[in-house]
Amino acid sequence: MNRRRFGKLVAALGLSCLPLNVPQLFAQGAKAQRVGVTLLDHVTGAAALSNGVELKAGKASMQITALREDVLRIRISKTEKLPEDASWAVLPSARTSSVATTYDAQGGTVGFHTKLLKVLIDRSTLSMTISDQSGRFLLQDAAPIEFYDDRFRVYKRMPGQEHYFGLGDKTGPLDRRGGAYEMWNTDQYRFQESTDPLYKAIPFFLADNAGRSYGVFLDNTWRTSFDFGKEDSKAYSFGADGGPVDYYFIYGPKPKQVVEGYAWLTGLPPLPPQWSLGFQQSRYSYMTEAKVREIADRMRADRIPCDALYLDIDYQAGNAPFTVNQETFPNFPNFVQELKAKQFSLVMITDLHIADRPNQGYAPYDTGIAGNHFVKNPDGSVFVGKVWPGPSVFPDFTRKESRDWWGGLYKEFSEDGAAGFWNDMNEPSVFEVPSKTMPLGLLHRIEEPGFVSRFASHEEIHNLYGMENSRGTYEGLLRLKPQQRPFVLTRATYAGGQRYAATWTGDNSSTWNHLRMSTPMLLSLGLSGFSMAGDDIGGYAGSTTSDLLTKWLEVGAFNPIYRDHSEKFTADQEPWVGTPEAEAVRRKYIEDRYRLMPYLYTLAEENSRTGLPMMRPLFLEFPDATADKHPLDLDAPNQFMLGQSLLVAPAPYPEQPDSYLVTLPPVSWYDYWTGKKITDGPHKAVAVSTGVPLGIGELQSVKILPQLEVLPVFVRGGSILPFAPLVQSTKEKPNGPLTLKVYPGDQCEGSLYQDDGISFAYRDKDYLRVKYDCESGKDSLRLHIGTREGHFQPWWSDIEVTIFNWDATPGKITYSGAPISKFHFDVSSRSLTISLPEKAEGGELEIVAR
Ligand code: GLC
Repeated sequence: MNRRRFGKLVAALGLSCLPLNVPQLFAQGAKAQRVGVTLLDHVTGAAALSNGVELKAGKASMQITALREDVLRIRISKTEKLPEDASWAVLPSARTSSVATTYDAQGGTVGFHTKLLKVLIDRSTLSMTISDQSGRFLLQDAAPIEFYDDRFRVYKRMPGQEHYFGLGDKTGPLDRRGGAYEMWNTDQYRFQESTDPLYKAIPFFLADNAGRSYGVFLDNTWRTSFDFGKEDSKAYSFGADGGPVDYYFIYGPKPKQVVEGYAWLTGLPPLPPQWSLGFQQSRYSYMTEAKVREIADRMRADRIPCDALYLDIDYQAGNAPFTVNQETFPNFPNFVQELKAKQFSLVMITDLHIADRPNQGYAPYDTGIAGNHFVKNPDGSVFVGKVWPGPSVFPDFTRKESRDWWGGLYKEFSEDGAAGFWNDMNEPSVFEVPSKTMPLGLLHRIEEPGFVSRFASHEEIHNLYGMENSRGTYEGLLRLKPQQRPFVLTRATYAGGQRYAATWTGDNSSTWNHLRMSTPMLLSLGLSGFSMAGDDIGGYAGSTTSDLLTKWLEVGAFNPIYRDHSEKFTADQEPWVGTPEAEAVRRKYIEDRYRLMPYLYTLAEENSRTGLPMMRPLFLEFPDATADKHPLDLDAPNQFMLGQSLLVAPAPYPEQPDSYLVTLPPVSWYDYWTGKKITDGPHKAVAVSTGVPLGIGELQSVKILPQLEVLPVFVRGGSILPFAPLVQSTKEKPNGPLTLKVYPGDQCEGSLYQDDGISFAYRDKDYLRVKYDCESGKDSLRLHIGTREGHFQPWWSDIEVTIFNWDATPGKITYSGAPISKFHFDVSSRSLTISLPEKAEGGELEIVAR
């Protein structure tokens, strides 16, 4: 039975009466049971566990346990035995953690509670309800779980005000309500807005109901699907074509807590090398060493800051991974060093398909065959499929030994000095077959610590394959250079893959609509664990236009990964194409990103410590922004936050000439470019896309007339942002002071994290962290610069503080009591700039008006 038929069955069960009478519905469900469908619909036995409850439903079994006070795990099997307790996504530390729970059994219900959550199961229906301690329901079954052959489907109530986010890089609106989605990693060249599935399988979503949030993670690598009311407006459902019913409930109530809870379960991303936050230039392909040199030199000559250059498949001999075409790249190790000397990091594509080239002295093939490292057909022969090199074989990444062998293939490139690697085509993509991938019956081997060794069908491993590919790369690079942070970019992945790689949204197109689609995709990835994400700036398929490239480089400057990439045979797409005026606009945005680097890097460090994404939907920062706790993002889907301070507000349709309104969350705001305080409004909030009043009270809003060379960005009042002097590469030492821009407002604070950007020395305290806060009165301001934490020596010896919204030349300025005479008051921008000496112990800057 497919998802649609499951859906019809739900409809047949009469879900329309669901919110009113769940037990009755469950009774109807039992009656409607059809041949072949097993419904789990009543409890036949219950036993308390120290950390939850165990239930029997006829032959079926169910276990609900508390991993933390706010994280539950639900496992269900239609047999007496629960499936093997192993996971590729969930960290062993999380899976094995537990808290003591109190068993609750009375009348017709059985369950338990933690300090934060109550779980109740209706004995007569097996309907599970999870509520908070005040009894407000959070998650409730809408119909009995269904099993059909190896498939299953779980149904949940869908309250009218609940909205759904996440699921990785799906296209379409940020809010998934009303949509249905599949998880099946697929090479979707030229995907469009309606294309699903895409490259990644991240079966995690976050639900938000008027500012109360929870998350659900279905830990199942098979083809899974999610339906948020497309089939029935009162219920949402999720299921899989096979594998275990094993899902986690993560309570908020704030959405940030859900995101952090998901990171606790599936792991934090590593701290990326700082260069990976710089501007990156790529193309399929720069065909020769000379061409790459030309690009590198033009970047420097045109003063366009740039950190990374990419080599796509054409640097290889006949597209065979781990080879170099000696004619077009004759002096490879020297060339890598030359780029390094010019302060570029080189990223090389290394696709997973190994060319099927026996007896040709091609080491990846020979050593792979010798080590039995390739995926097999059911008859035991090695599977061969066609990809870029022609006939190719595929590493068996679910074997640790094969991953270790794969990781070793990077030895030479790593020694040559390549800084990062790009794992593409790892859905895995196979050409010239309708399925675009391997046959489902192929056999992978699971030979892995923590797992029972066995064969597994490709159907089970498919969604996991890309993640284990990037894991092999990440871990291999770490073994080769234990002191250097690896950088891996992967196209396909599964939940938890953020532990190994950054990602991008795949083969988009050079159209305005694709620029528009990117923001919700990147936001969804960020909510799904993947903060280090970007898109092909300028668009991949088709030729970009000058204006499109300009606007894309503006928006991308505020995305975590900032990489310009395009397809073979398309027009040039480097920042200088077109007129000098166009180049100047693009340069300005790229330069601004480099000035903002201390903030970006601080956000990347926060992400690696907490799981909070760098790029955030508005509701993550302002979960109850409006009078009716309506997430503002639903009406302005391509506005986003970069960290907690910057609100980036491109036009709803990035090429539109008509004006639009930016509705601002209810704090004070400043214009990022001028530092001027926004004084418009408050007005009745209206939907950005339609101009229709939202009925959610009054909020400040700004009317914007789109201009090609301007990207509206606002700073939250109460922010202290760190900026650096301009450099051409993050490898260059900035020359000049650290600038702190202070935007007075409530809860005024900021922070700064710095380290060497490349090694793991920060683990030995070789980093610097400073916290700032400020308080402003009518005629005064006090800025507290915290004591430095860590022993990293920063580049600056002076700090330049700029305070916005300042009215007049100050009367008195002191820093930790000592008078300060170096300052400048700028009347037109109403800003005050003061120079201070850097002091490890920090200090108090006090300014009093005349
Ligand atoms: C895939 C990638 C694309 C790359 C191309 C050639 O289509 O998505 O980014 O340029 O392969 O390697």
